[in-house]
Amino acid sequence: MFTVAITGTGVFTPSEVITNAELVKAFNAYADKINAEQADAIAAGEFTPLEHSSEEFIYKASGILQRYVMDKQGVLDPEVMHPLLRQRSDDEPGIMAEMALDAAKKALEQAGKTAADVDAVICAASNLERAYPAVAIEIQKLLDIKGFAFDMNVACSSATFGIQAAADMIRAGSIRSALVVNPEICSGHLEWRDRDCHFIFGDVATATLLERAEDATGPCFEVLSTRCATEFSNNIRNNNGYLRRSRPDGVQDRRDMQFMQNGRKVFKEVLPLVSQHIANHMADEKIESGDMKRLWLHQANKTMNDFIGKKVLGRTPEPQEQPNILQDYANTSSAGSIIAFSKYSDDLASGDLGLICSFGAGYSVGSVILRKR
Ligand code: COA
Repeated sequence: MFTVAITGTGVFTPSEVITNAELVKAFNAYADKINAEQADAIAAGEFTPLEHSSEEFIYKASGILQRYVMDKQGVLDPEVMHPLLRQRSDDEPGIMAEMALDAAKKALEQAGKTAADVDAVICAASNLERAYPAVAIEIQKLLDIKGFAFDMNVACSSATFGIQAAADMIRAGSIRSALVVNPEICSGHLEWRDRDCHFIFGDVATATLLERAEDATGPCFEVLSTRCATEFSNNIRNNNGYLRRSRPDGVQDRRDMQFMQNGRKVFKEVLPLVSQHIANHMADEKIESGDMKRLWLHQANKTMNDFIGKKVLGRTPEPQEQPNILQDYANTSSAGSIIAFSKYSDDLASGDLGLICSFGAGYSVGSVILRKR
């Protein structure tokens, strides 16, 4: 068995930002437009007018201040309300491959490695731009990596499940190293016309290089252990993927292809699931809460993270112990905990312990315990 280490990470951040103020202005313009169109139906009591969104609610309910997106114009146009992404020719790199490539190059550079040092690529994300050929194989080709590549999807837990898959293969010796990449274009699956959730997501791509620890050339994080768990729930759903079916009333609507959630239930059910998952993982590794120097949690909701941090450490974590990037990036699905890890891990001292934990649809929970080296 080989010891596995994370030797590099990288983050691709889109160039376009949407602040809460811009988002709310666009949503409210859309609501006013619909209400004007439905004026007669509203007067007849047949249509419930759309309510305005508010910046205060968004920040208070989620902790989000802004989000990065791949296309701002379409999202903020009340006539469109979704990203307008250019159709690329078959000979051009796909948009996800391009985003992941940028993050992967940064991860390789941080590790002091080249594509020749990589044996496998796992593209793990909530949404993949196509089913085949795998986005991971396209990234493999763009980087000129030998070996193999495959895609996987475990919603918001895709990155940690991908890290477990890569770490297990490296530990067992079938590969020496793997790039786990997470291109998340959440703006494509978010319903920007839905007041209850229009503020939740943003776009990003992250990459994590895992290698045999003996191959590390600089500071790295040993993967002490990983743990994944799933439990079926309908509370976060994407109803129609490629099977675009009409409803009994014959209506086809893009809403059925997008993210839906029962936010309150998610909140209530996921918190105990995650807290217990982390507690069990730490207990099995004989790690006391006082020994855990950093938590890089999934970035969906600040209140949720504050609750989990407090449960795990047995006290309110100091800001540096449980860094949030949510205020800047919003929920970027599987990439969130990796952004936090990538941006807030350099200062840890040799021997310090930290934990990456993701959670989300499925339900799914993935945790990775790391030791700085
Ligand atoms: N602007 C203003 N008010 C809004 C609003 C908006 N954009 N969206 C909802 N509201 C209102 C609601 O109408 C409701 O009003 P009421 O009390 O008069 O009925 C009130 O705010 C509370 O709405 P609710 O949906 O219950 O808010 P919440 O406090 O539960 O927060 C979430 C909503 C989604 C932020 C929260 O439930 C959450 O984060 N859940 C977990 C999400 C998660 O992690 N999902 C995983 C995704 S991968």
